[in-house]
Amino acid sequence: MLKTHNCGELRLEHVGQEVTLAGWVHRWRDQGGLVFLDLRDRWGITQAAVDQQSAPDAHASAREARSEWVIQVKGVVVERPEGMSNPDLATGDIELEITELVVLNRAKTPPFYINKDEKIDEALRMRYRYMDLRRPKMQRNLVLRHNVTRFIRNYLSDRGFVEIETPILFKTTPEGARDYLVPSRIHPGKFFALPQSPQQLKQLLMVAGYERYFQIARCFRDEDQRGDRQPEFTQLDLEMSFVQREDVMDLIEDMMIHIVEDVSDRTLVTRPFPRLGHAEAMRRYGCDKPDLRYGLEIEDISDIAGETGFRVFTDNIEVGKPVRGICAPGCGDYSRKQLGELEDIAKEAGARGLSWMAVQDDAEAPVRSPIAKFFSAEQLAALIERFNAGPGDLILLATDVEPVVCAVLDTLRREMAERLGLADPDKVAFCWIIDFPLFEWNEEEQRWDPSHHLFTSPMPEDVPLLDSDPGQARGQQYDLACNGHEIAGGSIRIHDRSIQEKIFGLIGLDMVVAKERFGHMLEAFEYGTPPHGGIAPGIDRLVMILAAEPNIREVIAFPKTQQAADLMAGAPSEAEPGQLAELHIRVVRPDEQ
Ligand code: AMO
Repeated sequence: MLKTHNCGELRLEHVGQEVTLAGWVHRWRDQGGLVFLDLRDRWGITQAAVDQQSAPDAHASAREARSEWVIQVKGVVVERPEGMSNPDLATGDIELEITELVVLNRAKTPPFYINKDEKIDEALRMRYRYMDLRRPKMQRNLVLRHNVTRFIRNYLSDRGFVEIETPILFKTTPEGARDYLVPSRIHPGKFFALPQSPQQLKQLLMVAGYERYFQIARCFRDEDQRGDRQPEFTQLDLEMSFVQREDVMDLIEDMMIHIVEDVSDRTLVTRPFPRLGHAEAMRRYGCDKPDLRYGLEIEDISDIAGETGFRVFTDNIEVGKPVRGICAPGCGDYSRKQLGELEDIAKEAGARGLSWMAVQDDAEAPVRSPIAKFFSAEQLAALIERFNAGPGDLILLATDVEPVVCAVLDTLRREMAERLGLADPDKVAFCWIIDFPLFEWNEEEQRWDPSHHLFTSPMPEDVPLLDSDPGQARGQQYDLACNGHEIAGGSIRIHDRSIQEKIFGLIGLDMVVAKERFGHMLEAFEYGTPPHGGIAPGIDRLVMILAAEPNIREVIAFPKTQQAADLMAGAPSEAEPGQLAELHIRVVRPDEQ
């Protein structure tokens, strides 16, 4: 080794020892006869000093060294003089008195400071990702990620799970996104699809008798990017045989509790994890991945609003559109401008408008609101009571068709929580969402879409509904939500070929096409398939929350940008004409069509 210790290791007990360190120059201060260098490696920072008198050669080299040069220094550990120790640094009680210095490699001036915690343009960070990853914060995130996957591997191995790799070059595995396709050279005109998840293969492993499988699996989905989405991401993919949904949920719940408590610095605030029916989650929080770090629950006031003289409310209620709202504590003094901002946010989420009431400490006028005049004193009192509101609070009301009201109030709930500082990044609040509808109606295509994926089993008691009223059938699906993100999705699977065929029919998948795409699954199901189920937590999202980061790019070493590109390598890029010819592919750009 070119070093005897790392840069985070030396303490008072090492004083007097001769050591060799190697790393990057984090900071340097040239004080003439004395040069100070902060040397950094993955483990920390050590201050080193070189004196012109005692080590003239090393001193001359140190004067030349600049930020991010790679150097090796030999020296003696000394205690820092009285009052000079640095409590912010683990090695802050000592410094290294350099006797020899070797420049291992020079560095160009970095595109941004590694030694300052300041906001850096994200495109620049992506372009020079290897420099960005030198920053201690990024190193902490990637080490945390490693600790999470290591914990998972041990936890599951101890419980009889086997990690099995499944192919990346495979066939379409629909999870609701577009496939990334890979052309075949050997089979002209044919394509592999990169897996959107190992869903089919893990089910086939259950048919194959492995009973407990997991994989830290890379998945690929060509879909619109968001802060918690990447075109390629990592799942803990897991499947078990002879289980019911409680078995899978209990296992994951226990594992998540241990991950938070043993591996992260975050505090778990919901234990056991609350279980919410899908309908209940939508009603109380407007979404199926509620953030339970705070309340701000949605209240339905249709009964009160229906009796008022406010036509927007009464007309809507008459045609079955609810009136619902949330109460933001202490926001009653919002200005017109601030209220206008909230209305814009609501409109972006689909609302046509937003009503508001600021609760006041005034018996004559209990609320300040443009719509107060349409409400009687009793109606206002009932409304204030419904929200458990008090003077100084702000009630925000929306009305529209149910899905729009849910989307608008979900957005406002998140917005107000952010503004009020209620979404504490140190806290972790999990909850299970169960009893999902098996299908969602696709208005455009006039058919049912699976709300999870097409292998999810209906609740046993709802199987007859597949014939009579598919929209009412619930699936044996469970999602794990955390801090407002969907962390995991899973289900008990269909293991019966006739039900699987019925689902294909309901979602309008022609049996010829179904056999072409999933013939291998249907065939396998005829060879003794055990009842089975599983789940797949998204590793990137989980680590993002555990690292208290706002987006998953912060916990992925080499992520893609919002435009699904790699700015460092310049990918995607054009292929050589020869490569295309070999693949039997001709490129026709949209403007050439
Ligand atoms: P699902 O599609 O719900 O289920 O995905 C499971 C989890 O994977 C994560 N995830 C993503 N993370 C980052 N970027 C993306 N684009 C992305 N898409 C999904 C989420 C999500 O909860 N095969 C099923 C699982 C099963 O039924 O066992 C599946 O993939 O955290």
